[in-house]
Amino acid sequence: MRQTVFVAAGILVRKGRVLLAQRHVSAAYGGLWEFPGGKLEANESPAHALSREWLEELGVSVDGSEPYVFACDEKPGMTLVLLFMKVTAMMGSPAGTAGQEVRWCLPGEARTLPMPPADHEILRRLEVEGGGSFLDTEEPETVEVFVPLPDDGSTPEVLTFEAESRDLGRVRGFLIATPDGWRAFENLCPHRPLPLNPHGEHIPLDPHGRLACLNHGALFDSRSGLCVSGPCRGEFLRRFDTLEAPGGLTVVVE
Ligand code: FES
Repeated sequence: MRQTVFVAAGILVRKGRVLLAQRHVSAAYGGLWEFPGGKLEANESPAHALSREWLEELGVSVDGSEPYVFACDEKPGMTLVLLFMKVTAMMGSPAGTAGQEVRWCLPGEARTLPMPPADHEILRRLEVEGGGSFLDTEEPETVEVFVPLPDDGSTPEVLTFEAESRDLGRVRGFLIATPDGWRAFENLCPHRPLPLNPHGEHIPLDPHGRLACLNHGALFDSRSGLCVSGPCRGEFLRRFDTLEAPGGLTVVVE
């Protein structure tokens, strides 16, 4: 009797790059590149199979996925039903647990890789949907950083903080006390992607309460982050929201 086999395959796009893995040379379609995944076990849901396979194959945790499309691959005596799932949340750094190669690819590179027909069709579809790019499949990440304020009632001019974000990597920032309350900004000058204090120095305010970039002297309005003079005049520091919290402030990095 003809067999039907269900396979869950995951599509993860992060910063416009899709995650692809190379199939083992001894497997069907050996050496070709695919959306990682594997066969569903008896009574297993596609989402559970995807999480299990990605943990086994790539050493990562799939914390969110949703159905995308399915495709059939007719083989002698068997129908392979490929259930493509979009990965909406993943934790960890994917690496082939069996030594298989794994790549994050932009459309241009992905198009050059040999793939099974069903995977190739999905790749083409993702590129069309993204207007020539791949659209990220994960929800934008929000990281909250607590910054304690001095409990002696004093108000320091500038406080610095750091955060680790999946989307932004390591983020350095500072809080500044203004007449309108605290303001949080990314410590990255719009002139050159450099911290305003390249050697970790104290970030100075000029007599008018404006922030100074120690690289080339740009001055920023401390309320808005607008560069009011210098090589990046008219551009803005990236601002983060702040939330009141007991003993300090929570900065929302996203
Ligand atoms: S890097 Fe800030 S002024 Fe040039």
